[in-house]
Amino acid sequence: MNKNDQKLRIVILAAGLGKRMRSRQAKVLHPVCGRPMLHYVLQASRKLNPEKVIVVIGNQADKVKETLAGEKIYPVLQKKQFGTAHAVLQAEKELQGFRGILLVLNGDLPLITAETLKSILKEHRKSGADLSVMTTIIDDPEGYGRVIREGNGSIRQIVEERDATMSQREIKEISCGIYCAKAKPFLAALKRVRTNNVQQEYYITDAVRIMLGDGKKVSAFLYPESGEVLGVNTRYELCAASKLMNRKTLHRLMESGVSILDPEITFIESDIPVGRDTVIYPNVYIEGKTRIGKGCRIFPGCHIVDSVILNGAWILNNSVITRSRVGKNARIGPFAHLRPESDIGEDARIGNFVEVKKSKIGRGTKASHLTYLGDATIGEKSNIGAGTITCNYDGFKKHRTTLGKKVFVGSDVQFIAPVTIGDGAYIGAGSTITEDVPKHSLAIARARQSIKKNWTILKKKFK
Ligand code: UD1
Ligand code: CA
Repeated sequence: MNKNDQKLRIVILAAGLGKRMRSRQAKVLHPVCGRPMLHYVLQASRKLNPEKVIVVIGNQADKVKETLAGEKIYPVLQKKQFGTAHAVLQAEKELQGFRGILLVLNGDLPLITAETLKSILKEHRKSGADLSVMTTIIDDPEGYGRVIREGNGSIRQIVEERDATMSQREIKEISCGIYCAKAKPFLAALKRVRTNNVQQEYYITDAVRIMLGDGKKVSAFLYPESGEVLGVNTRYELCAASKLMNRKTLHRLMESGVSILDPEITFIESDIPVGRDTVIYPNVYIEGKTRIGKGCRIFPGCHIVDSVILNGAWILNNSVITRSRVGKNARIGPFAHLRPESDIGEDARIGNFVEVKKSKIGRGTKASHLTYLGDATIGEKSNIGAGTITCNYDGFKKHRTTLGKKVFVGSDVQFIAPVTIGDGAYIGAGSTITEDVPKHSLAIARARQSIKKNWTILKKKFK
């Protein structure tokens, strides 16, 4: 066989809107575990080292291109979506003179893996077929194209559900939307596809009948892992795909030494690193560019987005952390809120009902109860009393509060920013601090208590 005949190009079909999603967003952009489903298809495709990956786009073409920015792909536009055969033909200009193998796949197969694609490629090469279609068997084949076989087992045609007879609908072997073919005869066949079907669309699946009619060899390759070729057409299938992918991710994490107490109700986006011996309790959501270190504990109900949690940190129940960093062995929560750009030092403690925003909290510093720290820098080993508030906003601008090391702040203190407190200073409870406090000084800024003896008796108020 000529070496050129073995070259590979891939076409991903991603132009459809996906009406059954009932969304304004193009289907392939809908995220599965945090990333648009098209990303996974592309990722798997890349691993086959094709000469080109051609993506057929149409609905929300600009947005689709945007999410693929930085990826080396060849986008082609299908202005109107006349069907999957028509979609492939839009890629012709990127296939001129190409005599190798064309792998075509739907863009709505987020669970697809490179191994799956490799297996059909291998079968295709081995059998010497002109066209190979991947099929699988599923319990509920609703919506899929059914595979009709001859008495001897060879494929005769694929019938779309809407065009199928009642008895054909009973068939549980379906076409996965993955095709491998010799480019030239396949494109020639696609040009002869007509729209004589219920949807009046050009179906790629008709190429089977056409090529067989020309005496070409068509083979159906039955793939046993139906879960990997789940097509997402509805929100329900989107959810099913997310769950399957999440289960895979969690399984991988458990294999690598992470304890996950209940994977059915724990959600971690794919590609988030989690260190060994970290324990993740149920009802936890971890998303985005988050990294979790070793030996951490993430207790029930926590939601962590785009954050870094260093080794040994504990995130106690119902804490929300966004774009922040939690130092080694720090303790956060329960019910803490770390808003963007919070940097919590090693061994620090952010307790219940404490909100932190854009603040750096020094090593070993404690803010254990009912506190707001915004636009603040706090040195090491300081103690922030219950009910402390940095009054960072004067209605026009945000101002910073700066506290040194080993500062003691009594309960119910307000810092009217901008204000700076020196190392080792001591702030009396109930103070409203409006001016800087030098180091090692005591500041008390509250009205002195006065006593009027026997006042209530004299007033005859109470007898
Ligand atoms: C398709 C197959 C069906 C198979 C199923 C597997 C056809 C006619 N049917 O059905 O046999 O069982 O996939 O999941 O191919 N697209 C375009 N341009 C178009 C139409 C579609 O780019 O004009 C893209 C879509 O964005 C999508 C893919 O092609 O990524 C498949 O289209 P979809 O409408 O989802 O086809 P199914 O009905 O699922
Ligand atoms: Ca589909």
